Amino acid sequence: MIYAVRPFTPHPPHLSKTLYEKIRSMPQPKHLATQALILLLTIGTLAAQEPTVTVVPSNPPSANDLTPAAIAGSKEDPAAVQRGTKLYTSYCAGCHGVAGRGGPGAPDLVRSLVVLDDEKGILIAPVLRNGRPDKGMPNLGLTEPQIADLVAWLHAKTYAAGHRTTYTFKDVLTGNAQQGEAYFNGAGTCSTCHSATGDLAHVGSKYDPFSLQSRWLQPQSRRPNARSDGSAAETVTVTPADGHTVSGTLDRIDDFTVSLHDASGNFHSFFRNGAEPKIVIKNPLQAHTDLLRKYTDADIHNITAYLVTLK
Ligand code: HEC
Ligand code: HEC
Repeated sequence: MIYAVRPFTPHPPHLSKTLYEKIRSMPQPKHLATQALILLLTIGTLAAQEPTVTVVPSNPPSANDLTPAAIAGSKEDPAAVQRGTKLYTSYCAGCHGVAGRGGPGAPDLVRSLVVLDDEKGILIAPVLRNGRPDKGMPNLGLTEPQIADLVAWLHAKTYAAGHRTTYTFKDVLTGNAQQGEAYFNGAGTCSTCHSATGDLAHVGSKYDPFSLQSRWLQPQSRRPNARSDGSAAETVTVTPADGHTVSGTLDRIDDFTVSLHDASGNFHSFFRNGAEPKIVIKNPLQAHTDLLRKYTDADIHNITAYLVTLK
């Protein structure tokens, strides 16, 4: 007979040692009582039957399923991604699942908009630094370099997920172009902004299928260098208390300042103080961000197959 001797595991594999010790040092009568009970049962079992074996899952799923192609495509430093993989496995996998696809009570990180919209950790890092203790995401006491490595891993993961059908040319063509066309003109609402004979007329010859899929699937505007050609940039309108409104392309916004370039290329920067000045931001790719939540895998295959035919 084979028994797993859980109470003797030094600490659950998904929790870091320090975190586990923190939890252990908290008064947890219920937990201790349960442990004592398990211990007693185990001792009883040990006494009753001799050979006891610790069972380790022979083929555990892993956080380390990123291909070199996905890491290269994500443009993250491979060494950082590798360190991030280890950190993720020990700190996060217990709640968010070994591959980041979510666990009981903890969200899927690969489809999280916080992760998908992130640029250089601006959105992810605050969550990792402070946690959301009131909502079940603990402050894990991570250092800044650890946070940077976890951000690199999450970026590589979302990149791989966005491109999961494009590793080989053959995979891109598994979709059904007719169903893709129907989705484009129907449920996908794509045709409310695009036209197969207008702006997307030659999109199938403009990009290879791999790039085409990433262009339509992943909203680009918040990503580095997306603004270099000015297209799909976020625009902002700033109205200070004196009423003189300035509009243009958003350069940067944080809690303290907002800055932009107006149509003549002039730079403007404003201090923020509560609701002053009034700020309205428009992201032309917001629809793409919203749609990302809705696609099924089949929709993704079908749309790409359809767009490829627009030569
Ligand atoms: C004890 C369980 C637990 C652990 C450990 C944990 N998380 Fe979370 N995490 C949560 C929960 C629950 C939420 C959802 C909080 C909410 O609803 O706002 C969350 C939210 C997040 C979010 C925001 C997702 C979104 O879309 O809003 C990110 C990013 C995240 N976690 C990353 C991590 C990373 C990286 C680690 C490891 C360093 C980690 N978490 C460890 C439970 C956990
Ligand atoms: C609310 C408007 C809106 C909707 C709905 C929308 N898009 Fe877009 N889409 C945009 C904008 C804006 C851009 C950026 C255009 C640019 O870069 O000049 C864009 C970019 C694209 C591009 C990249 C074009 C290129 O040449 O790089 C593709 C492909 C695309 N969308 C396909 C789709 C598909 C497929 C759907 C439906 C599933 C869709 N879009 C839904 C507004 C929309």
